[in-house]
Amino acid sequence: MAAPNSPTRAQAYAALAQAGMDPQVWQYLQDGADSGNEAALTAVTLMPRPLARVKGGHTRLALFGQSLAHPLLLAPIAYQALFHADAEVGSAMAASAQGGQLVISSLASQPIEDIMQASAAQSDTPVPGPWFQLYWQGDRTRTAQLLQRAVAAGCSAIVFTVDAPIKRATLQLPPHVQAVNLPPAAPMPTLTEDQSAVFDGWMAQAPDWGDLQWLRAQTTLPLLVKGVLHPDDADQAIALGVDGLIVSNHGGRVLEGAPLSLHALPAVVARVQSRVPVLFDSGIRSGRDAFVALQQGAAAVLVGRPCMWGLAAQGALGVAHVIRILRDELEMTMALTGCATLADIPRSAAASPRP
Ligand code: FNR
Repeated sequence: MAAPNSPTRAQAYAALAQAGMDPQVWQYLQDGADSGNEAALTAVTLMPRPLARVKGGHTRLALFGQSLAHPLLLAPIAYQALFHADAEVGSAMAASAQGGQLVISSLASQPIEDIMQASAAQSDTPVPGPWFQLYWQGDRTRTAQLLQRAVAAGCSAIVFTVDAPIKRATLQLPPHVQAVNLPPAAPMPTLTEDQSAVFDGWMAQAPDWGDLQWLRAQTTLPLLVKGVLHPDDADQAIALGVDGLIVSNHGGRVLEGAPLSLHALPAVVARVQSRVPVLFDSGIRSGRDAFVALQQGAAAVLVGRPCMWGLAAQGALGVAHVIRILRDELEMTMALTGCATLADIPRSAAASPRP
């Protein structure tokens, strides 16, 4: 249930969040948000289909054998204690109460086990636990350690994020906010003067295709790769046995000038040819945006910043309300376009860029 005077659009939570937030934290959260992902989604027109019978419609779906009430997953977001004391536990409660799914970041600021417990406590039915987003930990031993912790805690899928092996630090973390689940960091290699901090330092600790192949053999859980934009990379990941892909440009936060996520989606979907589900993120701000991504072939979407706006403004309740708003908007968009279920959404046929 929403608090009195709650916003009716997810976007309205942004102003509430910003008003109560340290400007540097706000800048960290919003970094990359103006890169065009949102505009690409809103630029797509939708064709109304009146008089269609949609009574009894719903947004349910099955994904990797899991029954979800709607296709709006909470994207993995690091250090959620920066935004509100409820942090990841609050996000887990909200996702679970709304019958959806959460992806826990490797850089979560609360113990995985506590987040899993909060998720289970909110659910009437035994739903599979949240998914875990895995960042490479410098080598296979440390990566396996983190993976095993997530598996032991009951995480039900692994999302391997591959698009940010190196990234400019934009925020000095306060002492009370830390990535509490990480194993001790791998030591950075000592570099000689003619070596590169990028190639011989950071990238020496980054994963490659061989590591993805290794990771595939480490778990029987569904394994998704997040951060795929090129169809050839989609092919290669599928050849190595991954169960799903997430088309994402990390919310515009990593490579300046990377293709907008929505623009990359059709080519990946076309290449994948339904061999595995393709999920989508970057720029989803409304249920209408989610509909657009589904129409372009996404099986589900991940929502990043809007959930954090809700968290910052009203803790777990705010996150739950944001998800509810997006779901209501998705239902409305489906109804107005004549779609009673997600399977009825015409894949890309009716979508066209605005002139
Ligand atoms: C992220 N993202 C991210 N992704 C990931 O795989 N692991 C992580 O720890 C984080 N951390 C993170 C922090 C913050 C502050 C942001 C904004 C984003 C990326 C995230 O999962 C997702 O790809 C984008 O946020 C999606 O874009 P929107 O919905 O925020 O536009």
